[in-house]
Amino acid sequence: MMVWKLGVVLAVLVCLLCGCQGPAIQRFGHELTAEGQAKSQPVTGILGAFEQEIVILEDKLTEPRGQKIEGIRFVTGKLSGRRVVVGWTGIGTVNAAVATALMVEHFKPGEIIFTGVAGAVNPQLLPGDIVVAEKIAYHDMGVLTTEGLLYKGVKNRLDGIENPVFFPADEQLLKLAEKAAGQVKLGILRTSEGDRSPKIVKGVIVTGDTFIASKDKCAELRAKLGADAVEMEGAAVAQVCYQREIPFVVIRCISDKADASAKEDLATFYVMSAENSANLVAEMVGLFEDTKIKNKK
Ligand code: ADE
Repeated sequence: MMVWKLGVVLAVLVCLLCGCQGPAIQRFGHELTAEGQAKSQPVTGILGAFEQEIVILEDKLTEPRGQKIEGIRFVTGKLSGRRVVVGWTGIGTVNAAVATALMVEHFKPGEIIFTGVAGAVNPQLLPGDIVVAEKIAYHDMGVLTTEGLLYKGVKNRLDGIENPVFFPADEQLLKLAEKAAGQVKLGILRTSEGDRSPKIVKGVIVTGDTFIASKDKCAELRAKLGADAVEMEGAAVAQVCYQREIPFVVIRCISDKADASAKEDLATFYVMSAENSANLVAEMVGLFEDTKIKNKK
């Protein structure tokens, strides 16, 4: 009994002295300190909002090592031969910003890619199609007047300069996504009108803390911001990256048309859409070997 108690005390002491951040996560046995990771070669950060979007990528990793930092799961490993850290943000802009800031602080990624699903605002886009965001904006940030919302960025806390309404994606990451789009194999979409190959387009993504299930709102987002797709995290990730001068790109596969049937469509197409987006990201990461993405600092 005494020996058992001594063991527990020793374990607690070792944990305190080593500064453990929390239990090693269930899915992966080994724990790696984030600081240890930061000292080695730069990694590519990959983030996603829903667990399933992230699990698809975690399952593709070789040498996976997981840990939790402030309750957020990060898994390091190799994807298509490149060192990556994969993080699950949770839903919404605040969760996304917290996870991005933690990833930046603890892993110092050379670039960040966001993967996930989105609602289509552009009527040409259907579930399974992918939008690579050339630029991304909040659709709910600005000044609300009787004429409607005047979009306006907030001040960057690092330099006091007002952020742009649209955060531009990194040019080299966009080129890599384009190259990857030419060679990735995506799931065929079975529709009532027959089978359809998904298309991959560059476009405008908008972000807000609302799940959009309204044709009228889509019309507004298209008319006022030129939006192709809507989601709930991308601009927050982009803002953190923009402010910290980290190259980023947001990649989203359409899961619904952000209309009255959005919730049902999301449930139907979610897995296929999450896989399409993750597959494009994996393909893209495989192309990094020949390209050195320059950090803007
Ligand atoms: N993500 C997937 N579909 C969405 C929608 N309709 N609105 C906001 N975020 C989404």
